[in-house]
Amino acid sequence: MNKRNFLKTTAMAGIGSVMGMDALASIFQSKSTTDPLSLAQDEKFWSTIRDQYILKSDYINLENGYYNFIPQPLLDKFIEHIKHINYHGSWYMRNFSVSDKAAVVEKLASVVGCSASELAITRNTTESLDIVIAGKHWQSGDETIMGEQEYGTILAAFRHIADRYGVINKMVSVPNLPSSDEEIVDIYKNAITPKTKLILVSHIINITGQILPIRKICDMAHQRGVEVLVDGAHAVAHFTFNMNDLNCDYYGSSLHKWLSTPLGAGLLYVKKDKMPGIWPLIIGGEKDPFKMQRISHMGTHPAHTTLTISDAIDYYNMIGPERKESRLRYLQQYWTSRVRKLPKILLNTPEDPKRSCGIANVGISGLPPKDMAKRFMDEFKIFTVGIDTANVYGCRITPNVYTTTAELDVLVDALKKMSA
Ligand SMILES: Cc1ncc(COP(=O)(O)O)c(C=O)c1O
Repeated sequence: MNKRNFLKTTAMAGIGSVMGMDALASIFQSKSTTDPLSLAQDEKFWSTIRDQYILKSDYINLENGYYNFIPQPLLDKFIEHIKHINYHGSWYMRNFSVSDKAAVVEKLASVVGCSASELAITRNTTESLDIVIAGKHWQSGDETIMGEQEYGTILAAFRHIADRYGVINKMVSVPNLPSSDEEIVDIYKNAITPKTKLILVSHIINITGQILPIRKICDMAHQRGVEVLVDGAHAVAHFTFNMNDLNCDYYGSSLHKWLSTPLGAGLLYVKKDKMPGIWPLIIGGEKDPFKMQRISHMGTHPAHTTLTISDAIDYYNMIGPERKESRLRYLQQYWTSRVRKLPKILLNTPEDPKRSCGIANVGISGLPPKDMAKRFMDEFKIFTVGIDTANVYGCRITPNVYTTTAELDVLVDALKKMSA
């Protein structure tokens, strides 16, 4: 078996026969001419995907943002890869692991729309962003800009470089309900000084689900000689975009979120001309400053997870990126449109469909978010997470492709009762 064939044959063995995916693929094929927006409302169609998950009956899971646990066909595939690699042992690792990983990077590059030479597989967003944050050549007095809504441990990484190198981090705040892209771009623009080197910005803010105008922020920043690092933890395989169109300098994401890979898979994109400006954190010996391997080495790691990324991409492509995005946005709008105007309800996510997708955040005035999350669970058997930070007061609601509108009716009913 040659190196490429190992990946191909193991992938084929699962998708199709063992996993019963052929039938599913043909259902999806039969809907190929239905437009994604109409299909988004077809509960019967989406129930075929729901059937592929083993769901706990204890509660309605509306906390998929942390981890989009994997459907059965992908779980089978993952286990199959573990068995294969355990069987082949060092033989696999010596002869196939490097070329297989390169093939997965190539496939992933086509999902996010960039060159494979600018992409690396990592273990998560934290690792991806820390490679850039801790690896850049900082000077004392260099300035950075970021929103207080950015993810906690990523902000901590910036506090680390402040302590270590004397970098000055300037905090801004992104409004939950902006009226235009320009309003957001100006927030970052107004914080730039001649010492600003880097902006950190989320593609989609994890606590509210607001999608930010990354291209416009990048264009504005580049005109002023400032680089942009994008935290795309929740973006990849949630809504469609093209990395090259974003025009950012660095981008990190977690694939165990919306791509539904096993835990511990991420990606890092670095624009070619920015690669030499990063010192590696883990040293693998690659000297070429224009090779991603120089900065993304991680030593021996779970190769079966890497192989499953390939299957997760097949699964994602079978659902169809646009169909998935439309369904997730439909689900979010299904419940938000039913509660947005209710007294005491605080919707912390923009209504404009281009500014949000599956994730939204809702609060009830006077009800602390932690208590709200507890009441959701205790009284209505709904699992969410309470957020009370950075001008966001409410519970994050994250459905997944298996979520039904009937489940969201329970959510709407709960919100009506709790806010009454
Ligand atoms: C915006 C954002 N950035 C970074 C992370 C960290 O992701 P991970 O723990 O997968 O590295 C998360 C996790 O939820 C996140 O929401």
